[in-house]
Amino acid sequence: MSDQHGGDGSAATGLAGLLAARFQDGAGLDASVAVPAHLAMASHCAHRAWTDRPLPLETLRTLCAIALSAPTKSDMQSRDIVIVDEPQRRATLAALIGPDPWIAQAPGLLVFCGNQRRQRLLHEWRGHAFANDHLDWFFNAAVDAAIAMQAFVAAAEAAGLGCCPLSTVRNRAAEVSDFLELPAHVFPVAAMAVGWPARGNRITPRLPLSTTVHVDRHREQGLREAVDAYDRWRDERQPYVRQRAESRLGRAAFYGWSEDKARQYSVPDRADFGAFVRARGFRLD
Ligand SMILES: Cc1cc2nc3c(=O)[nH]c(=O)nc-3n(C[C@H](O)[C@H](O)[C@H](O)COP(=O)(O)O)c2cc1C
Repeated sequence: MSDQHGGDGSAATGLAGLLAARFQDGAGLDASVAVPAHLAMASHCAHRAWTDRPLPLETLRTLCAIALSAPTKSDMQSRDIVIVDEPQRRATLAALIGPDPWIAQAPGLLVFCGNQRRQRLLHEWRGHAFANDHLDWFFNAAVDAAIAMQAFVAAAEAAGLGCCPLSTVRNRAAEVSDFLELPAHVFPVAAMAVGWPARGNRITPRLPLSTTVHVDRHREQGLREAVDAYDRWRDERQPYVRQRAESRLGRAAFYGWSEDKARQYSVPDRADFGAFVRARGFRLD
């Protein structure tokens, strides 16, 4: 749990405070519906520092079982989790994911994968044509994996653990796939570093609900002004400590979330992922 919420024993007060810390327009929400599980979810924050306390394989397997209890498209169960447990293999995987030491230091390291191989095999075994080799089929597996991933985060955080999902597992997706011996039609969606948090962490403010929760129809009215206001509101609470690509893009007088995200995607990121997925056997038409 974050060190930001009051923990005053009242779920409603706690939830109201958490949502007001997360959303600029979160103050008027109906917190009377609050239950303890809501407090855990609303106080979510990613963790990237761990104590030495070990995380037994059986604990991770139990969290995976809880995560895989989450919904799955058409009951197809198109997702797998690879727990990398052996220390040397964990170090190798961590090096493939990224240079950050906290990845290698995490007592738990897992990879959430989309798996459409099993569905293919069912067609072979049952003698029915496979008639869905298109983008939606790939998408289902990616979504299934992401749902399990978030369910894992919720389960782990409820147990007092901290997590950080890692899309950087896709930076070297082919090497990771070879390393994990993923067959065709199985692909990494995200890795997960998990452990006992070394410290509390702060709630990251989200965009105002007025821009992300729509009623009856989608609206973009006032979006730019709302994003500007979010930039300022967020900056008052959590200013960025450094500016991305400063040597290339210069120093901004005001550096907010929108500037950071626009700078982030001003360079190609994993532009080869489509080619990788096609090489794993997906057509994506
Ligand atoms: C699919 C996914 C992939 C992510 N990949 C990374 C990553 O590669 N490295 C990292 O440090 N954080 C990663 N994160 C964590 C996000 O940066 C984090 O959720 C975001 O900054 C919001 O912060 P919060 O989770 O503390 O609210 C990822 C999160 C998600 C959902």
